[in-house]
Amino acid sequence: MIRISQLGLGIALGLLSLNIQAAGNPELGKAKAMYCATCHGAAGERKLPLWQGGESALADLSANKIVSALKAYRSGQRFHPMMQFFVMPMTEQDMADIAAYYGSVGIGPSLYERLGGKDAINAVVRDLLGNGMADARLKPRLSRLDGARCERQLTDLLCQATGGPCKYTGRDMKTAHAGAHVTEVEWQAFAENLVKTFDRFNVPERERADLMQLIGPMKADIVGH
Ligand code: HEC
Repeated sequence: MIRISQLGLGIALGLLSLNIQAAGNPELGKAKAMYCATCHGAAGERKLPLWQGGESALADLSANKIVSALKAYRSGQRFHPMMQFFVMPMTEQDMADIAAYYGSVGIGPSLYERLGGKDAINAVVRDLLGNGMADARLKPRLSRLDGARCERQLTDLLCQATGGPCKYTGRDMKTAHAGAHVTEVEWQAFAENLVKTFDRFNVPERERADLMQLIGPMKADIVGH
């Protein structure tokens, strides 16, 4: 479990392959997903007892995960008679559209709300900074910063970025890290600590993926300046 999420994280943070995938159209996807509803529920909400652990519903999976599952059925890497039958006629664009649809039906509550609001975000940030202080790769740098201020700013940043009612008043990522020479090793350490924090708070897969889509692109402004 942890290995899989770390792998996902590495991909999201490193290559941002999330953006390379063919863009899906949720409107078209809705029509194409019509016959999936019988088993998976109209909004992908139904959990099938057959699945690993019986816990996942399509609505809980990231678009990437849905596309790779469909590809795995098509290539025969993963086998289930029903799914094999359904993926056979699909093009890559069909898969992307369907995944985009299941991604969009979840759009009721913002990521901020799904994470549990500002207190929850603050708790996550505090845990993450705590992990960092216990990590020899990050401690030297973190211990030079004002911990309380750091916690407040990071909380505001994430609160705002996830659609919450906060205002981040700190400097933009590029300016804030100019001349800091943040290394790949430190970023990797940060990514690993983030996974630990996600695990500790049982952050669901979809929220992890959504957070990574926000945090991943910041790497370019943070590392190596
Ligand atoms: C007749 C019932 C049925 C229909 C219709 C159906 N599925 Fe499935 N689907 C299943 C079952 C059963 C599984 C679990 C198979 C397994 O264990 O690998 C599954 C698994 C999946 C998975 C993998 C989920 C995971 O947790 O990894 C995806 C993605 C998926 N289906 C998408 C679709 C899409 C998209 C459609 C419509 C084009 C569709 N399914 C139509 C029964 C169905």
